[in-house]
Amino acid sequence: MARITAAVILTALCSGIVALPKNIPIDLKAHGKRADLPPAEERAQAVVDTFRTAWAGYYEYAFPNDELKPVSNGFSNSRNNWGASAVDALSTALVMRQKDIVNQILDYIPTINYYNTSTEVSLFETTIRYLGGMISGYDFLSGPLADLADNKTNVDALLEQSINLANALSYAFDTPSGVPYNILTFTDRGNTGSTNGLATVGTLVLEWVRLSDITGNATYAALTEKAESYLLNPSPASSEPFPGLLGMDIDPQTGRFLDARGGWVGGADSFYEYLIKMYIYDPSRYAAYRDRWVLAVDSTIEHLTSHPAPRPDLTFLTQYNGQTLDLVSEHLACFDGGNFILGGQVLGNQEYVDYGLELVNGCHETYIATATGIGPEVFGWDPARVPTDQAAFYNASGFYIQNGNYILRPEVMESFYYAYRATGDAKYQEWAWEAFLDINATTRVGSGYSGINNVNVEGGGGFKDFQESFWFAEVLKYSFLIHASEAEWQVGGDADEWVFNTEAHPFRVFEG
Ligand SMILES: *[C@@H]1O[C@H](CO)[C@@H](O)[C@H](O)[C@H]1NC(C)=O
Ligand SMILES: *[C@@H]1O[C@H](CO)[C@@H](O)[C@H](O)[C@H]1NC(C)=O
Ligand SMILES: *[C@@H]1O[C@H](CO)[C@@H](O)[C@H](O)[C@H]1NC(C)=O
Ligand SMILES: *[C@@H]1O[C@H](CO)[C@@H](O)[C@H](O)[C@H]1NC(C)=O
Ligand SMILES: *[C@@H]1O[C@H](CO)[C@@H](O)[C@H](O)[C@H]1NC(C)=O
Repeated sequence: MARITAAVILTALCSGIVALPKNIPIDLKAHGKRADLPPAEERAQAVVDTFRTAWAGYYEYAFPNDELKPVSNGFSNSRNNWGASAVDALSTALVMRQKDIVNQILDYIPTINYYNTSTEVSLFETTIRYLGGMISGYDFLSGPLADLADNKTNVDALLEQSINLANALSYAFDTPSGVPYNILTFTDRGNTGSTNGLATVGTLVLEWVRLSDITGNATYAALTEKAESYLLNPSPASSEPFPGLLGMDIDPQTGRFLDARGGWVGGADSFYEYLIKMYIYDPSRYAAYRDRWVLAVDSTIEHLTSHPAPRPDLTFLTQYNGQTLDLVSEHLACFDGGNFILGGQVLGNQEYVDYGLELVNGCHETYIATATGIGPEVFGWDPARVPTDQAAFYNASGFYIQNGNYILRPEVMESFYYAYRATGDAKYQEWAWEAFLDINATTRVGSGYSGINNVNVEGGGGFKDFQESFWFAEVLKYSFLIHASEAEWQVGGDADEWVFNTEAHPFRVFEG
């Protein structure tokens, strides 16, 4: 997925060596292939069992709050108190055919009051999790998975609630340029923060266009396409340091960029992801989006490709500030391999597919190098900045850890999924299964699964007591689908019939 947190951006861009607990073992653990890979049906079922465990803990201790705190059996509301985990879990429960859970969620969604919250609302997070989750549920339940709904009225309510939510959010676009504000305060129809970001502006259009196409109300598409127009034609020219690669900070007053730093990292990431996904959604309307994606990808290959000095066999992508490169990347950025593969397949470009597979391999290496078998939140490979206590680790693995958290992020699993679907190579199923086992072994605690403090100590260095909603939406969906049988929503066929939003909610592509 692609999402941002201010802390992550700062950590990555300032390249500070932060919050890394001591005692990093210098001997590399032998993670990687286990001898006994069980049959695909058993692997898929193990992921379903994990989903049911996480759901049961959430339903008992947290529902209908946003998230479970699995260690303390408490709850939290970081996403407006509308039941984020329930809405985010729906499309995964659907593809897993967990009918009881599907109907628990369907009975709940009509009761949400999307016009009311006392907390700040992120237009971006609300769009990708809530709007994306409900639209995906509607596409499945009015289509190939209609048999899973006990109550047809609840299916219609998914669309009504999507309309309610979009109508509640739509004042965000009421700015001089049409570029929205991201952080909204519903109580006074206000906003906070003076600027918006590339990812937060550029990761709305798929959800809002789909809503227009289902409802016939063209306003949702028009609002987000207008905002996107500033990203497709960026100004000033200095905000595009390489063709197609942009800055990240945008002024809603003018629609102009205020910086020239970026990459395929948090804060920018899913803007690039959606350029090619819009083309997949409707090639006739979004050819210009494809052209910008191709420009960005060609520039990335030419300018951002980086091989760590001690491991020239690996490929990572640098960040940039203007044309100055910064040798730092993130777990968040590991969606990039999957996105290159997807775009390469759709455009019939094997170079993009092969390059994407190289990126997937680099991200796999960040997993197998650590004590837990899980990759870190932020990693660097600048020879001038190797922390003394990580010199041997860097020599062997090709990177050092700047932030060792793992908060149940999906991007590496996501890219394994696209790699497997494109190549059919069972190696990627093995990588996904190993990662799943290691994540399960390290993050399973109390009534669910929790983020951990340090991927490079045995046991994970302590729990954050927080089960993110994207654990349901993304990690468990990709972990399942890579082992699951063929279905029309599986990606990578001759013609993609479904496209996944950045929260892994599958949408039916435009039928027109
Ligand atoms: C609005 O939300 C608050 C919590 O954010 C809740 O206390 C209140 O009852 C809600 N009001 C309505 C009308 O739903
Ligand atoms: C079906 O769902 C609607 C809300 O969408 C609810 O009002 C109705 O009572 C439900 N019907 C049954 C039989 O549960
Ligand atoms: C279409 O959506 C816009 C934006 O939320 C809303 O203001 C308008 O009332 C809607 N139009 C209809 C006919 O529902
Ligand atoms: C890392 O590799 C370099 C170059 O091979 C070598 O000089 C250095 O001693 C190694 N450092 C450690 C800690 O292994
Ligand atoms: C997941 O972890 C739990 C608790 O450690 C364990 O009981 C279970 O067997 C694990 N699942 C798999 C598939 O290894």
